[in-house]
Amino acid sequence: MAKFKYTVLASVWIALAAAIPSLDLARKCPVTMEGRVARGMKLSTFDTTSSPFDPNFSKGENLTWSQIIEFPHVLPSKFDITAYKAIEVTIDERSIFIPGGGAPQIGFRRAGLLLGNGTDATVVGVKTFHWSVKQDLRARMNLTHEYMNVWHETNDYSANQFSFNTGILLEQDHPTDSNATTTGLDKRLWKFLDRGNDVIWTTWIDWDNWQNFAVTVDYVKK
Ligand SMILES: *[C@@H]1O[C@H](CO)[C@@H](O)[C@H](O)[C@H]1NC(C)=O
Ligand SMILES: *[C@@H]1O[C@H](CO)[C@@H](O)[C@H](O)[C@H]1NC(C)=O
Ligand SMILES: *[C@@H]1O[C@H](CO)[C@@H](O)[C@H](O)[C@H]1NC(C)=O
Ligand SMILES: *[C@@H]1O[C@H](CO)[C@@H](O)[C@H](O)[C@H]1NC(C)=O
Ligand SMILES: *[C@@H]1O[C@H](CO)[C@@H](O)[C@H](O)[C@H]1NC(C)=O
Repeated sequence: MAKFKYTVLASVWIALAAAIPSLDLARKCPVTMEGRVARGMKLSTFDTTSSPFDPNFSKGENLTWSQIIEFPHVLPSKFDITAYKAIEVTIDERSIFIPGGGAPQIGFRRAGLLLGNGTDATVVGVKTFHWSVKQDLRARMNLTHEYMNVWHETNDYSANQFSFNTGILLEQDHPTDSNATTTGLDKRLWKFLDRGNDVIWTTWIDWDNWQNFAVTVDYVKK
């Protein structure tokens, strides 16, 4: 049974992008939703409502987050220093999600930590989402598959505000550049897709070091 692993900085922390110049960084960009994992947090906490993430979604049926998440022995990412720590999510043949009332999604393996509830600070005003990723060389991603690593789904599930993917993009996701398909993009690239699934930015996976990303979403201008 293949076990793919992937290390994330506790997914996402979201800060208000500043319009007002200020010398006070903390006030310029207050964190409006925190997805970093405190250094002292226990695995079992991910199964409870004290988790920064929804304890029930989105994961293989019958799995708990404490079975899926590991604490890897890695140096902290720049944003985890000094109070937070990295987490690693694992996927395998048990990672088949069954949506409420729906059929099992056998085409995918899912371990998606869900931050927020869809009607919160993440969808108001101008927000910047930050995340950091590092690869586990003992369990590399198999880039023959598409990996959707970070994404912001709309509340009606009809689209993604953005998504951050790698591997071979699936035709069914209609990834494009303007109107040309981008399924043939090099599988070793990170691909950043906008709400229309246009690939708007790419960069190579760094297999050795932390990579830090951020995207600002303007819900006012739209
Ligand atoms: C998770 O699911 C359990 C069992 O269905 C339910 O009691 C609980 O309220 C859910 N938790 C959240 C945060 O939705
Ligand atoms: C989850 O457990 C239930 C009860 O044992 C079982 O019927 C179901 O097939 C399991 N689901 C999966 C995806 O293994
Ligand atoms: C969603 O979360 C926000 C706080 O982050 C809260 O104010 C709101 O009531 C929540 N909405 C639902 C439907 O739970
Ligand atoms: C990667 O995935 C492809 C397609 O599922 C599969 O044929 C191949 O054996 C996998 N490679 C490894 C190293 O697991
Ligand atoms: C796709 O883009 C090409 C080149 O810009 C253009 O000639 C063509 O009309 C476009 N097709 C559609 C369906 O928009």
